[in-house]
Amino acid sequence: MNTKKVCNQFSISPKALRIYEDLDIIVPNREENNYRNYNEENILKLRQLILLKEMGIPLKNIKELLAKKFDEYKIIHGLDLQLKAVDNKINELKNIKNTLEQSVNEALNSDRVTDYSDYFNKIDRCLSGNKEKRSNWMDKWGFDSWATNYDDSIKANVGGDLNLFENYDLVLEGVSKLVSKHKAEKVIDIGCGTGNLYGKTGQNVEYTGVDQSVEMLLKARVKYPNIKLRLGNFLEEPFIKNEFDVVTSTFAFHHLNFVEKQKAINLLMGYLKIGGTIIIADLMFLNNKERLKEKEYLIQKGREDLWGIIEDEYYTDIEEMKKYAQQLGYKVKYSHIANFTWMLEICCKEGLM
Ligand SMILES: C[S@@+](CC[C@H](N)C(=O)[O-])C[C@H]1O[C@@H](n2cnc3c(N)ncnc32)[C@H](O)[C@@H]1O
Repeated sequence: MNTKKVCNQFSISPKALRIYEDLDIIVPNREENNYRNYNEENILKLRQLILLKEMGIPLKNIKELLAKKFDEYKIIHGLDLQLKAVDNKINELKNIKNTLEQSVNEALNSDRVTDYSDYFNKIDRCLSGNKEKRSNWMDKWGFDSWATNYDDSIKANVGGDLNLFENYDLVLEGVSKLVSKHKAEKVIDIGCGTGNLYGKTGQNVEYTGVDQSVEMLLKARVKYPNIKLRLGNFLEEPFIKNEFDVVTSTFAFHHLNFVEKQKAINLLMGYLKIGGTIIIADLMFLNNKERLKEKEYLIQKGREDLWGIIEDEYYTDIEEMKKYAQQLGYKVKYSHIANFTWMLEICCKEGLM
């Protein structure tokens, strides 16, 4: 296909084609008269390039993505990176929108303003907050990097100073047993990581694993080629409503603060059929008294460093969560399984088993 036809077909300019050629992304063969001739492979690549460009991916990254033969891992990774960039941009714009809204509302409700420095200070704070977040958005959770050695590190951590993953396999088996007890057919597992719960449960039920880390999901896929996966977040609107018998989550809930946990419970309920149950196995304290007891114990032992590790995350306060869930009319059941790990069941309407 000659340059003119290609330009017409894709509504692009000859100049754009020249740039892709100069960058060594799409290099057509030359006819005897030196005219360009785009073959099928060039056309396919051009289509992919245009689509990726529409998604906002820079040309240098597109070049990498389309180089050599199709590399699925690279493509997923590249798209995920762009997804994070878009997500970040949306958050920045939301932040700007809120600041503007606040300033307008304040102006409407105050006396005549002669000094505008207050507005500008606010805008300055908002923009520097955005800038700061921009510099560390790439792997804000650190889970993408942890994915490579997650399974090994769990084993290595067992018996460690805090022994956070004590009886890890037993915990997952406990969740799996509960899932069977509920006679669940469809299960959604949030924060599924490398798919270890699927290894215990998934084969017997229709399982969907959800995680915000694409690297964790890719690991799960290598281990379990038939696993159904989805990139997602505790705090997003449920992407499928009222379809699941059980929502599970193991060792992930402690990454949400209390307000986020409340929001997550509401959203997770959205996945469930009437009578469905949320089963969370995670690091928790029974109540604040127990939490302070642990703090005192570690500090007396001279292990402030260990208390720092606990404090860095948000172990659920079970009684506080129970109170919240009960206010919403949910039923709550909990039991201690290992060291810091508890099992929490939250059920809507019909009773727990
Ligand atoms: C410690 S790992 C646990 C993985 C797995 N459930 C297990 O039991 O081994 C925590 C997982 O939660 C995921 N995660 C953390 N915060 C999340 C969020 N807000 N939404 C979805 N996944 C999240 C992380 O990406 C990570 O894969």
